[in-house]
Amino acid sequence: MRELGRLEDLPQDYRDALEQLNLVPLWPSLRAVLPPQVPARRTRATCWPYRAIRPLLLKAGELTPIEKAERRVLVLANPGHGLEKMQASAAMYLGMQLLLPGEWAPAHRHTPNAVRMIVEGESAYTTVGGEKCTMRRGDLILTPTGLWHEHGHDGDAPVVWPDVLDLPLVYYIEASYHVDGARQTVEPGQGDTVYARGGMLPSVDFERADKPYPMLRYPWVEARAALTALAANRPDLQGVQITYANPETGGDAQNILGFYAQMLRPGQLLKLPVRSPAMVFHLIEGAADVTVEGERFELDEADTCCAPGYSEVTLANRSASAPAFFFIADESPLHRKLGVFENRSLTPTRNP
Ligand SMILES: [Fe+2]
Repeated sequence: MRELGRLEDLPQDYRDALEQLNLVPLWPSLRAVLPPQVPARRTRATCWPYRAIRPLLLKAGELTPIEKAERRVLVLANPGHGLEKMQASAAMYLGMQLLLPGEWAPAHRHTPNAVRMIVEGESAYTTVGGEKCTMRRGDLILTPTGLWHEHGHDGDAPVVWPDVLDLPLVYYIEASYHVDGARQTVEPGQGDTVYARGGMLPSVDFERADKPYPMLRYPWVEARAALTALAANRPDLQGVQITYANPETGGDAQNILGFYAQMLRPGQLLKLPVRSPAMVFHLIEGAADVTVEGERFELDEADTCCAPGYSEVTLANRSASAPAFFFIADESPLHRKLGVFENRSLTPTRNP
């Protein structure tokens, strides 16, 4: 590779003249922004064990009332980006949120898209766009861009859930903002009921539904049943995975991040394809290892880890008798829309 000139090679008066005019020579920085073969990635393989987060999150419940927090969240920040950036990867934000009995996180809406998935507690709900979504363990609840949402809790024990947002990306493109609102009126109609039967979609006056996000709640009981049936029906299949999809379009459930549920058969070791997007793994059920470029994380239920894009990732079920189930979030929809998606396990390195 050709060696390029350094900034220090240039006379100081020339550098000063450039700076005066807000000009920068490209060649000293060219290799940094266009490195050979593999992108520079700040995202570092990182694990956040739930047993370590939980007491600190409950302590936050004592220290900070919901009125002072609006959303009582500990952010799972990737040290590779700097903790103050509050990002798990280039495009993904992860937070662990606590709602105590009787608390209400008031209505707001914002440009970043969010999803959440209960890890602990009963009787919490999120009202999204007037639809009251009950939150049970493992359910995926969408909060797409621009929809009003608020969280309530009618139970008697703390409720905890991870949030996944595309906040870092939307913030980066200077499009992130929120609007506060009044408590929503709950409207009749439940998207997860309307779309509960795969392949049999409701006719609305012979037109397809006009909501861009017709299904907001994806019950874990259905996702788990779909994975178990898929594994039984296709014993040859290595990657037993489902994609959370928009039931009207068949496309990704949201525009920027992709969401999936992955089952590992008892004792299974699964090598994932090496792809461009970063990934987040959250263990819903079982005991499994996630190995990223040789670094192994032992995940128990409710633990979360992330892997940078272009990484070798292996999933291993530590149980020889029970399946393991992951929730996975990644940046695939974004990469595909931008035309930078790569699966290096399928195709040799591109020569752009
Ligand atoms: Fe929100």
